[in-house]
Amino acid sequence: MTDKAVDFRDDELVAAARAVRQHAWAPYSHFAVGAALRHRDGRIVTGCNVENATYGLTVCAERVAVFKAISEGMRPDEFTAVVVVADTEEPTPPCGACRQILWEFCGDVPVVMATPAEVKAVLGLAALLPWPFDRRILGTAKKEG
Ligand code: THU
Repeated sequence: MTDKAVDFRDDELVAAARAVRQHAWAPYSHFAVGAALRHRDGRIVTGCNVENATYGLTVCAERVAVFKAISEGMRPDEFTAVVVVADTEEPTPPCGACRQILWEFCGDVPVVMATPAEVKAVLGLAALLPWPFDRRILGTAKKEG
């Protein structure tokens, strides 16, 4: 995608995503992913992908991190960045489902895509999910029934 050095200064957040990736449960794809969210109060919440023998029940690292954070009492729009780590040549972006979930809880945060060795890309979530469906649209619905 890009050969330019990418400027993202939160080394602690990147390190947390790299570390949690080691807990990935990925015996089917062998594609281990780590994710880390930075809360505005300084806390970090991490997640790894958790696969299942039925494949379709697999949950991505990003969603594990978001759901952990929400279940710990953190609320939407309190997050300042998300890091995704996979061992790929190209940056690994969040899947479509994760973009939607991240939008609900994080809004237009920087999405940092890194490998075990380097940060590959940083892009705002709004660029990854243009024209999202969200609670603002729900609020404009004409009431029926
Ligand atoms: N995966 C993630 O956890 N996050 C991503 O951003 C891309 C994909 C996982 C899901 C599955 O366990 C494996 O990677 C292969 O798709």
